Amino acid sequence: MLPRSSGARIIIEFGTSFGISTLYLAAALRDNGGGRLITTEFEPSKVMRAKANLTEGGLIDLVEVREGDALQTLSADLPETIDLLLLDGAKAIYPEILSLVEGRLRPGALVIADNADFSPEYLERVRSPASGYISTPFGEDVELSVRLG
Ligand SMILES: C[S@@+](CC[C@H](N)C(=O)[O-])C[C@H]1O[C@@H](n2cnc3c(N)ncnc32)[C@H](O)[C@@H]1O
Repeated sequence: MLPRSSGARIIIEFGTSFGISTLYLAAALRDNGGGRLITTEFEPSKVMRAKANLTEGGLIDLVEVREGDALQTLSADLPETIDLLLLDGAKAIYPEILSLVEGRLRPGALVIADNADFSPEYLERVRSPASGYISTPFGEDVELSVRLG
């Protein structure tokens, strides 16, 4: 719903696992008219399964799966502008991952963090107006933040 309603075309996902969320995000990109999704996962067996699921779902052409530690895989070669970031990997490094991507987030970009309560430092940052976000919890332990201009 969030990538569809915001018309997202460029998405970054931290934590692919078997690619369930990746399928939803890529399907939204397809319905938005196309785009690019970079997702990252450090367990090779999960990467294989995720790629197979995306291939079976007919969405692999929209997705680049980067295998390895997100602190490395998202430290270079990011798109110029990012519309949406989904954080769903190791909660302790949400602040570091946000810092890697932050400079590319367009004004109005959405940042969705699952189980954000496990990262108090992250919550403190996105809930501080001085950090350049407006942010609210919703659902079960999800934090939804909007990047300000
Ligand atoms: C909760 S699962 C992701 C679920 C997936 N987003 C979904 O909804 O279908 C978290 C995944 O993040 C991966 N992960 C955790 N820390 C990571 C890191 N530093 N770099 C890359 N992947 C990581 C784990 O191996 C795990 O598969």
